[in-house]
Amino acid sequence: MAEKETGQLSEAQIAVHWREEKYLHPSTKFIAQANMTDKTICDRFSLDNFPDCFKEYADLLDWYKYWDTILDTSDAPCWKWFAGGKINAAYNCVDRHLDKHKNKTAIHFVSELESERIEHITYQELYVRVNEVAALLQDFAGLKKGDTVTLHLPMTPDLPITMLACARLGIIHCEVFGGFSGRACADRIIDSKSNVLITIDGYHRGGRFIDHKKNADTAVNLAKKDGQAVDKVLVWHRYPEKYLSPTPMVEGRDYSINDLLKNYRGKRIEPVQMLAEDPLFLMYTSGTTGKPKGCQHSTGGYLAYATGTSKYVQDIHPEDVYWCMADIGWITGHSYIVYGPLALGASTVIYEGVPTYPDAGRCWRIAEELDVNIFHTAPTVIRALRKVGPDEPAKYNYHFKLMTTVGEPIEPEVWRWYYKVIGKSEAVIVDTWWQTETGGFLCSTMPATNLMKPGSAGPGLPGIHPVIYDEDGNELNAETGAAGNICIRNPWPGAFQTIWGDRDRYVSNYYARYCKNKDSKDWRDWPYLAGDAAMVAKDGYFRILGRIDDVINVSGHRLGTKEIESASLDIVEVAEAAVVPVADDMKGTVPDLYVSLKPGYEPTEELASRISEGVCEAIGKIARPRKVWIVNDMPKTRSGKIMRRILGAISNGKDIGDASTLANPEIVEEIKKKVSN
Ligand code: WTA
Repeated sequence: MAEKETGQLSEAQIAVHWREEKYLHPSTKFIAQANMTDKTICDRFSLDNFPDCFKEYADLLDWYKYWDTILDTSDAPCWKWFAGGKINAAYNCVDRHLDKHKNKTAIHFVSELESERIEHITYQELYVRVNEVAALLQDFAGLKKGDTVTLHLPMTPDLPITMLACARLGIIHCEVFGGFSGRACADRIIDSKSNVLITIDGYHRGGRFIDHKKNADTAVNLAKKDGQAVDKVLVWHRYPEKYLSPTPMVEGRDYSINDLLKNYRGKRIEPVQMLAEDPLFLMYTSGTTGKPKGCQHSTGGYLAYATGTSKYVQDIHPEDVYWCMADIGWITGHSYIVYGPLALGASTVIYEGVPTYPDAGRCWRIAEELDVNIFHTAPTVIRALRKVGPDEPAKYNYHFKLMTTVGEPIEPEVWRWYYKVIGKSEAVIVDTWWQTETGGFLCSTMPATNLMKPGSAGPGLPGIHPVIYDEDGNELNAETGAAGNICIRNPWPGAFQTIWGDRDRYVSNYYARYCKNKDSKDWRDWPYLAGDAAMVAKDGYFRILGRIDDVINVSGHRLGTKEIESASLDIVEVAEAAVVPVADDMKGTVPDLYVSLKPGYEPTEELASRISEGVCEAIGKIARPRKVWIVNDMPKTRSGKIMRRILGAISNGKDIGDASTLANPEIVEEIKKKVSN
């Protein structure tokens, strides 16, 4: 399907095709306590009741002022939810819980060092810290409502505290995943036009103390070259009284947050009343071209949707201990470590380190110590845990009532291990399909009202009406048994508002494909194209097959093939580069990088590893190619287009099909020989 469009390999083409699995039932014990047991909820959220049905989600929040229009479509397809309503996200995640829950833990912070005790931050303490940081951002950094600020922070409480301090003031936070390189951080500083960067000296990861501050120096210098000046770098200390980075602070530019905070002790900042449609944050994600897209999320709609789905799909109650083992640097962490759980007054766990450090039992010791009862992770982590410690969970006394999986398709076999061994056959599983762009879950079973089916995400959630279209816009229903492009018929409150600074790209990437009338202000004319291939079964459950565009999903993280290719083209010897996804037992998919060299250069091991390092430096270690293949030439069409489909087939040991129409068919055998050796 995608092949027809682009002549290239897409993930969907190497996605597995599983058989239909048997249903599993949620336990009566789970159902008895669930937040949502009303099977008629989908009727309440039917298209007939759209968009008013979403008032039910908005009513989970405290508003300064109710909206004038629940869904304003006047600037279609830039939707405005709860237009005219006034709200503050930090108020909803912190202040409003103080009455009843001020002594309750908001955040359990687990250091990677097991010798360090877990830190329990109460809602009152969170309130104090968020206010003091907000005072610093306002009075020292001069930031105000509508400004953007780039955060490059790893998994410590400083990250959600900084996010909430921004939200309190209406500052748009742009968090860059901590594992990304200084170069990747610079790109996001430039695109978001941030004058302030917030970072940290370092953190523990995989048994090492990482010097993170050095990334800030790289980022600021590269941003400057591109004309974006960062005047202030605010640096958290991993340990308040120590500075542990070997990279020195730069006089007049870098400031220690922990030192400055001493001047803001006891300061309180009134939350700023934001319009529901004011942006809350940007989250960058990969797309079909090299440049990452800044997905702009709203305040009211986003928070309502993250909160509603946290409550009904993850079944979070205020007394739950909820652990989402993702990184806050991705959308999963924003919605389901920070905003959703805190808006519901739950206790959310933040774990700094690697799930299998120092051994396969680490997660289960944390779960036991904190008595975690909701657990959220990704297939790639489940596969890793299964490999290193298949019998480990049974050794620990913890009990989950619900578990979530997200980020990539989960193999039924892995699903069953998750269910039996990690979930001890007690926990309900929700397989949630969604994206950075969508703000919250789109397809999943509702834990108490739907049956579970391994390998399928599930039906559209309440108020989400998915449809599968073929290339010509015909609907593909269950009877056809065919896969196509999954779209959502209607807008929903969590949907991103636009791509920061690039409305045209927003429209063309997500809405133009199946738009019925480009001048229409009616949402019915603007189906949302998710960019995934999917099929629907007779029971209405959707199975997601993978990306249809040039995006590789490595361990549940989206990387653009073009980003990796352009990074390798920065190495002087490289003439051409092509990246293809390779199926991987642990990570789902990994990138294979093919390059050809400019005349006069010799292929060497040294060069291959330099190219690989170059990619890591440009993007981050997560993008490291499985292998860099230096080839004499790329397989090309007569018009000169690189045939990635053929390279993908070779990398995956699949049949390459007909190569006779290529301009250089002989190269295929040569490459095949090289790769199969
Ligand atoms: C994939 C992560 C199958 C999909 C929240 C999507 C999934 C991309 C699932 C978004 C799932 C996410 N089953 N595939 N349950 N969840 N995906 O933006 O290809 O990092 O388009 O958001 O991950 O990745 P993103």
